[in-house]
Amino acid sequence: MSIRPQGPVPATPGPGKLPITELPEMKARRQPIVMVTAYDAPGGRLADEAGADLILVGDSAAMTVLGHDSTVPASMDEMLMLTRAVTRGARRPLVIADMPFGSFQVSDEAAVENAIRFVKEAGADAVKLEGAGAMLPRVRAIVDAGIPVMGHLGLTPQSATMLGGYKAQGRSAEKALRLYNDARALEAAGCFALVLEAVPSPVAARITRDLSIPTIGIGAGPDCDGQVLVWHDILGLYEGRTARFVKRYAEIGTAIREALGAYADDVREHRFPEEQHTYAMPDEELEIFLSQTGASASRDRG
Ligand code: KIV
Repeated sequence: MSIRPQGPVPATPGPGKLPITELPEMKARRQPIVMVTAYDAPGGRLADEAGADLILVGDSAAMTVLGHDSTVPASMDEMLMLTRAVTRGARRPLVIADMPFGSFQVSDEAAVENAIRFVKEAGADAVKLEGAGAMLPRVRAIVDAGIPVMGHLGLTPQSATMLGGYKAQGRSAEKALRLYNDARALEAAGCFALVLEAVPSPVAARITRDLSIPTIGIGAGPDCDGQVLVWHDILGLYEGRTARFVKRYAEIGTAIREALGAYADDVREHRFPEEQHTYAMPDEELEIFLSQTGASASRDRG
């Protein structure tokens, strides 16, 4: 196991944290923004070393690491703990904490209080919340408190039941127009970026063209200003059914199962541990120890 040095040592070269003001400039330069989810310190460090610009501590954690069937059960305490771990591992990327269901819907005050907890207690750089409409005042209140907010439209998993399940959104002209207007309203409310999930590519392209803030797509086509995928999906760690928009870049789940199986076989077949995995002690100390525990070293050594 490698141990990361303590202290403010950037994992990537450069001046440190990516300034949030760089994001609209990346959009203007048509330089794709890379976002990935992470849920622990090694994940934050690896995403940083791989050059991610943004790390989302998604409430997808409820499914990917906590074993729930949906994102709804994720709690503030769980999300705080995971965000804290990620910010310990990541240096350059902006770390965005996903506000879990119930942490921002009730009132502006609760939304601001919980957003502040992510920044003060977990070191998050920004928060993300799902929806527009009644959530617009929440966005304004959190931004007014000095915390950057990322919006999330399209397939918003916290309201999957209301949407009729996990399916693409904005596939009729009327629904696409609603998405477009919601996106503009979130920009006007002060969001610094917007996730578009499971939205037809031409709709995402039009929204991207007409917003000055970057759009980050997941199942929203190639014209978004950036892309995000879930850690477990990219790495082949999640065993459940994956969405159409997922691309797997590795089969780490298989590699882990094989490695653990090889370890179990070695233990059962007495092949592990070997000499190099064990500690010695001076002969005379061993002699004393064995004689004091009622045995002779030469006999016990066989
Ligand atoms: O929770 C999450 O991981 C997300 C991404 C899929 C955007 O919201």
